[in-house]
Amino acid sequence: MLRVDILTLFPHMPESVLKSSMLKRAQEKKILQVAVHDIRQMATDKHRTCDDRPFGGGAGMVLSPEPIDKLAQKLFKSNKKKSFRFIYPSPQGKLFTQEMARQLSQYKHLAFLCGHYEGVDQRVLDRWVTDEVSIGDYVLTGGELPTLVMLDAIVRFVPGVLGNEESHDFESHKDGLLEYPQYTRPAEFKKMKVPDILLTGNHKAIAKWRLEQAIKRTQSQRPDLYDRYKASEKR
Ligand code: 6GU
Repeated sequence: MLRVDILTLFPHMPESVLKSSMLKRAQEKKILQVAVHDIRQMATDKHRTCDDRPFGGGAGMVLSPEPIDKLAQKLFKSNKKKSFRFIYPSPQGKLFTQEMARQLSQYKHLAFLCGHYEGVDQRVLDRWVTDEVSIGDYVLTGGELPTLVMLDAIVRFVPGVLGNEESHDFESHKDGLLEYPQYTRPAEFKKMKVPDILLTGNHKAIAKWRLEQAIKRTQSQRPDLYDRYKASEKR
């Protein structure tokens, strides 16, 4: 069982996604337990203010440290526990990868702090965050979507989430290659035929064809991955 806490100013956003598909099923199967926490509930003033203008000037607003710290304190007491990671999704973070997803899936408890606006006061990050992670080189308006993206990738590694025929070993990026093309019935669709080899039942030849297709695709779509694949093959 993986326990996950999401700290956010927009709880409806993660909740709506957690209510459907794979993340819902994982929760029903008790493989995953997610709690979404509204940072605003921790603000003390009449208007429940959670942000303020940046010291030193500049555009936008910064999330204040107190409500976030109060919530983290209430939920976690400390972040020094062994099987716990406190993740801050941010464009300044380390790039999220399939390998990082696999590693994070080994923990018993994860927390995600969703920032917004120009960022979060650095002091509360210094106090709690163990991993600052980006999902790619583009800028999003908040940490909720990156949190859900990462959680989806992490949960796929938790035993029991994928069906038994779905294995990580044969999927994209596992051996550093993209997936080969897939086909299902009908064998002919709008005059387009399924590659003959797939209808032969020759498993060895099919495996060889699939590997060739995977290599071809990786070479044209992702030269960066292809270079790494070639380098690892030589060793
Ligand atoms: Cl993790 N957060 C935000 N706000 N933007 C991003 C991102 C994260 N990763 C890429 N862009």
